[in-house]
Formats: sequence, structure tokens, C-alpha cells
Amino acid sequence: MNISEFKTAGKLITGLGAIKALQPEIERLGIKDFAIVTDKGVSNSGLLEQVLSLLPIPPALIFDDIPPEPEVGVIEEKLQLLRKKDINGVVALGGGSAIDSAKVLAATYGYDGSLYDLFGENTLTSRTLPLIVIPTTAGTGSEVTNIAILSDPQSQMKKGIVSHCLLPDVAIVAPEMTKTCPKGITAASGIDAFVHALEAYVSVNASPITDALAEKALKLIYNSLLHAYNNGENLSAREDMATGSLMAGLAFGNAGVGAVHALAYPLGGRFHLSHGMSNAVMLPHVLKVNAPFCADKLYSVAKLLKVCERHHSKDEAIKLLLAAIEKLCRDVDIPASLTHFDIPPSCVGELAIEASKVTRLLRNNPKQLTIEEIEDIYRLAF
Ligand SMILES: NC(=O)c1ccc[n+]([C@@H]2O[C@H](COP(=O)([O-])OP(=O)(O)OC[C@H]3O[C@@H](n4cnc5c(N)ncnc54)[C@H](O)[C@@H]3O)[C@@H](O)[C@H]2O)c1
Ligand SMILES: [Fe+2]
Repeated sequence: MNISEFKTAGKLITGLGAIKALQPEIERLGIKDFAIVTDKGVSNSGLLEQVLSLLPIPPALIFDDIPPEPEVGVIEEKLQLLRKKDINGVVALGGGSAIDSAKVLAATYGYDGSLYDLFGENTLTSRTLPLIVIPTTAGTGSEVTNIAILSDPQSQMKKGIVSHCLLPDVAIVAPEMTKTCPKGITAASGIDAFVHALEAYVSVNASPITDALAEKALKLIYNSLLHAYNNGENLSAREDMATGSLMAGLAFGNAGVGAVHALAYPLGGRFHLSHGMSNAVMLPHVLKVNAPFCADKLYSVAKLLKVCERHHSKDEAIKLLLAAIEKLCRDVDIPASLTHFDIPPSCVGELAIEASKVTRLLRNNPKQLTIEEIEDIYRLAF
């Protein structure tokens, strides 16, 4: 067994009603004047008001307009505004976009360089402000990862800042926060969570600890996503999705994700497909290429998700697994082809060049892909 370290938020508070822990945690961390970072969809859904009603003193600052998949420039603007106030804490309420923004804001409040210089690994060595995060999607798992992903308009790519300074002090995973999540976001972020678990499970860095988390996450997500999608008020499905997405976050936050994410990044950066959607579209195609290189793991997943019978061979079971994943994507109305998004097939070469640069993720993949193989995978996705 290789030596590995396990990274997560300082404290995890989970379960229905966990949101009530917000005020005690604010006090425990000695936070007096803080900023809430959220977005219009979350505030229009009534969640912001609900959270504010739990606080005896209103926050010093509310950013309620973080755009989906935020660009670096947006965070730089917010940072200027934040620095004008005497803030000593940040609370994120939202999906991955609001949480990643808050992670960067809390970490860089006292940093005077350009955010562009922080892309990559371990460029940030300290965080200025305490950080509490409350996810409202299930989800990115960002509440427990050391990554923040921003859109870089210069290179038309999604890029990651990776540092232990981005791990929140507290993650409050209260499943009721996801009840208002719109259908399309439930589907895309839910498949994203499934991909996190699957890519972590087949990652070359997987460990017995991340495997256990990924296995449970795969089961929870596979069995509850369609129910949460069909009926957003189904609290038991929302609860399983919130737990599954958290566990998937813990798994991939330590084992890493692979080629699905690497090939999804240029689709987000260049064509503005959401993170969840771009992963969902690439998933079946990358899996087909990866399958021979992680056959034992995929066979385990097929048995775990009960998509095969005892008499099926390993190869048959893997085929059934791939078909079951494609069906899940179809059932939650994820388009099967990039053509649906008006992406011209002539872009394949450029997409492959950009994806091949995401070595931070490609090196976790069970199969080391050549640029020609990456091009072939994109071609399959049309
Ligand atoms: N840091 C990480 O570890 C990590 C991992 C995966 C993805 N990401 C990043 O996260 C972002 C995507 O996050 P996401 O999929 O959670 O979506 P999101 O945060 O972009 O939100 C999508 C939309 O859903 C709305 N929404 C979210 N929750 C809602 C709720 N409960 N009720 C009503 N509306 C709601 C938002 O207002 C927004 O309009 C991308 O930028 C992606 O790159 C980060
Ligand atoms: Fe993801």
C-alpha cells in the first residue's frame, strides 16, 4: 500500500437540519464581520433569506451575483470590494461556482499578486480568512476539495487552483438546501458527482480509503439521481444525493479525477458548456477507451450497481455497466452528442490540443492517452 495523505474540510456537519450549525460555527471560528458569497439563482430560490434568518447579526457584505462558472476577472473585482471592508470570515452558499469563488476570496484577501499566477498546484501557501461552505447542489464536492476552478477567458479554458489553503474550515452539507435546485442542474451536477466517484475509483492514485468512499458514493448516486430529478421535493433522494456527492468529493479530492474531466475542460472554456454537462457528454466515450485498462474495477462497479447477473462474464458485465450509465444520462435528459450544443466537429483538433495540456488530471487516468486517442474520443462524442 502506497503512503497517502487524506485531505478534507476541517469539520463536516451533515444531515437534514445541519444548517442550524452555521451560527455556532461562526462563533466557534471567532468570525464577527463576514461576507456571504452566493448567486442569483440561490437567492431567488429563498435559500439566502432562509440562511440569513438563522443569523442574529446580518453579514457585513453579501455578494449575490456570482455567475455560473465564474471568470477570473469577476473574482478579482469581488476581491477589490471585499478588501474595502474589514472582514474576518467568508461563508459560501451555493453550487460549485459560489463555493469556488468563496474559496479563492477567503484565501487571497491578503494576497497582492495576480490571480492568474495562482493557477496550478501549491502556488498558494496561506489563507487569510476562515471559510464555511454550504453546498446547494449535489454536486461538485467542492466543499471538501482543495481545488477552485475558474474560467480563464484568455486561454478559453477552465483552470484549477490547487492548494491545501482552499480546504474550508467547515462544510455544512444540509440536503434540504438542494430541494430548490432546478431539474437541469440536478441532472448535470448529479452526473458530475457520479463521474467524480467513478474517476476516483479507477484513478491510478486510488487507495482503500478512497475506494470505500467511491463505492458508497456510486451506489447512492446511481440509485437516487433519477428520483431527485423526477421529483425535486423527494427529500430522501436529495439526502442520498447530498451524501453521495460529498463522499464522491472526498474520494476524488484525494485520488483525483481523470480523462473525463480533462476532456470536459475545453468544452467549458471554449463553448461554455456547464461543468456537469460537459462531463456527462464525455463520460461514456472516455469510459469505452478506459475500460480495458481498469476492467477489474469496472467489473466491481457493475456488480455493486447490480447491472449484471452472476452468469455474466467480466466483459459482458462491463458492457452492461456502460449501457446502464448511458441510460441514466438519457433518463435525466443529458444530450448524447456534442452536435446538440452546436459545436462544430472541425474543432476536434483544437479541443484535443487543449485537453492534452490538462496533465494534472490526465496523469490520474488508468490509460495514458495520446493526443490522437483524445481526438478519437472527441470524434466519438459527435
Ligand atoms: N472545486 C471543485 O472541487 C469542483 C469540482 C467540480 C466542479 N467545480 C466547479 O463548480 C462549478 C459548477 O458548480 P455546480 O454544478 O454546483 O453549479 P453552479 O454553482 O454553477 O450553479 C448552477 C446554477 O444552479 C443554481 N442553483 C444552484 N443550487 C441551487 C438551488 N439549491 N436552488 C436554486 N438554484 C440553484 C445557481 O444559481 C446557478 O444558476 C463549475 O465552475 C465547476 O468547474 C468545482
Ligand atoms: Fe467535476
